Amino acid sequence: MEYSEIDRKLQKILTPKRYTHTKGVEYTAACLAMKYGADIEKARIAGLLHDNAKCLDSEEMLKKAKKYGVRINDAEKANPDLLHAIIGAYRVKDKFEINDNEIIKAVMYHTTGHPNMSLMEKIIYIADYIEPNRKPIPEIEEIRKESFTDIDKALWHILNNTLDYLKHKNVYIEEESLLAYKYYSKGKN
Ligand SMILES: [Fe+2]
Ligand SMILES: [Fe+2]
Repeated sequence: MEYSEIDRKLQKILTPKRYTHTKGVEYTAACLAMKYGADIEKARIAGLLHDNAKCLDSEEMLKKAKKYGVRINDAEKANPDLLHAIIGAYRVKDKFEINDNEIIKAVMYHTTGHPNMSLMEKIIYIADYIEPNRKPIPEIEEIRKESFTDIDKALWHILNNTLDYLKHKNVYIEEESLLAYKYYSKGKN
């Protein structure tokens, strides 16, 4: 699917607020790709598509999980929004007809991260956190700067703050996030 068609489709299936965030992730991902020598067009498409499943309601999300054979745990059953990254990744291929693995994986891991992420995965994970339409987050100015000076430091910083936030709220933390945090904490203590 062409860029303009993807963009048009997303405008239809996302809420205006989510679409604004999506465009923010798209251009922030493009900037990070410029800085770190990744494919700019791929970064734009991955940014554009990262939240494509975010506006599905719980029932639709669970239906899609069944369709794609995604196994769901109790936390995901109780809060199907947790599935939007993996369902979104399946839809990149299925709904938007994009077969690029780098893009699909960047969408798949945009909420949890994982150990030893690819450059494209890091770019989307970070762009999702730092894009300018986000409401104020603690230490965001520092993290925005780090994103353009030391990408792994920024990644660690975001994982650290996200895990802190989730622990504080006493909500479910994906195993993948903990493994990613451990991986990117190497040499930090
Ligand atoms: Fe998301
Ligand atoms: Fe997002």
